[in-house]
Amino acid sequence: MGHNAALAVAGRRRHVLLFPLGYQGHINPMFRLAGILHARGFEVTVFHTHFNAPDPSRHPQYRFVTVPDGISGPAPVAIEDVVSHIFALNAACEAPFRDLLAAILDEYSRDAVACLVADGHLLSMVQVATRLSVPTLVLRTGSAACFSCFLAYPLLIDRGYLPVQESELETEVSELLPYRVRDLMRVGSHDLTRELLARVVAAVDASAGVILNTFDALERSELEKLRRDLTLPVFDIGPLHMFSPVTESSLLRQDRSCLEWLDARPTASVLYVSFGSLACMSSRDLVETAWGIASSGVPFIWVVRPGLVPASVEEKETTATRLPDGFEAATRGRGTVVAWAPQEEVLRHPAVAGFWTHCGWNSTTESVCEGVPMLCRPHFGDQMGNARYVEHVWKVGFEVGGDLERSAVEAAIRRLVTGSDGAEMRARASELKKAAKECTGKAGSSDLAIGKLVDHMLSL
Ligand code: UDX
Repeated sequence: MGHNAALAVAGRRRHVLLFPLGYQGHINPMFRLAGILHARGFEVTVFHTHFNAPDPSRHPQYRFVTVPDGISGPAPVAIEDVVSHIFALNAACEAPFRDLLAAILDEYSRDAVACLVADGHLLSMVQVATRLSVPTLVLRTGSAACFSCFLAYPLLIDRGYLPVQESELETEVSELLPYRVRDLMRVGSHDLTRELLARVVAAVDASAGVILNTFDALERSELEKLRRDLTLPVFDIGPLHMFSPVTESSLLRQDRSCLEWLDARPTASVLYVSFGSLACMSSRDLVETAWGIASSGVPFIWVVRPGLVPASVEEKETTATRLPDGFEAATRGRGTVVAWAPQEEVLRHPAVAGFWTHCGWNSTTESVCEGVPMLCRPHFGDQMGNARYVEHVWKVGFEVGGDLERSAVEAAIRRLVTGSDGAEMRARASELKKAAKECTGKAGSSDLAIGKLVDHMLSL
């Protein structure tokens, strides 16, 4: 047990309260943070919505408190519905969270609670905690560059970059290089995006610090910029999954059969394809993707999760996705399709040569940390900006843009997996893997930042 752990246990402020947003890309980093704080001596209490509630039996070391959200119906599919759902969760949980938090403060005694760490999208919970005099920290699950984009949004509107004009998509945003207009955060309409980002910034402004799932070697200048722009402490303690494995916070059952399948493949031969937990594709794009994969001749694991192609745009339902007739026969013995994969383990497997990804921030960092280069197909939100960094800054992948055509897909896969510039990208990714190991190793920048975070929590 280190110095900080001893402090946490010996001191009275030993409870930390966590409130993740109930979406996979947000649950995973919060549970990784829970693992880190628990290992440093904190007792962990996790507040969560009914929506996508975690399974307490998989985390017997934590206490769970359900906050009724009163929202029924299927999970939203379209991104604008996801954003409206996030607003609705905030509104519905505010009053019940206030009562439950007050009860916990009575039970633990106020002095025993160090702070609340809330997801950046849970502004209402930050406000409730502030009213009850509980210090808060905000976990931002995206990159430092992405958060700078959030902060700059009003300025970018003033300067005329936003709302996005189709004719200006390629224009560079000189205030936020290397982003072009097309790389700026977008979730549905301009007004919805602006409101979403303003709420995250308000949550951070009301907090005692922001925790970022990034690391110094990956985003040094972006972190320096953030520290200049914010008066709050910034804790770059990522990549969180390097400290704390997360398989137990997966909402869908991970099909582990693909790991055995990988065991039988040669080193650096397989393409892993997954578009995360939210991104959807049209049935046309699914067909082009399938035939591009088939004709590339490259071995593959493809995650086709239920709802990847919504049943119909009107119904927005989550149903099993059918691959084109003949695809299975054309690829038999050369590929495997699963509904959900143990992604971190797949990326860590030596047989994996490349990752075709939507560039969610978790997927991007998980890939970088295993030295796996990427084909990028961003869909919404921060993914375009992440893809820009992958291609233009870290040079560990490239984007497959425009309308998907099977011949372009086939060429892109070959370029990444067997091409010479794919090999160069793999070499650069290996350097980032080493850098991530150093940052998360003893006395590395992220390890030191965790120590500072714990000290900060205990000082609040
Ligand atoms: C969303 C946004 O898309 C993302 O841009 C934002 O930064 C966080 O919220 P999501 O789309 O789900 O997240 O993508 P991502 O951030 O990559 O997170 C997906 C997580 O699910 C990863 O931790 C990944 O390891 C896991 N996963 C994915 C699996 O366990 N199995 C799979 O088959 C696919």
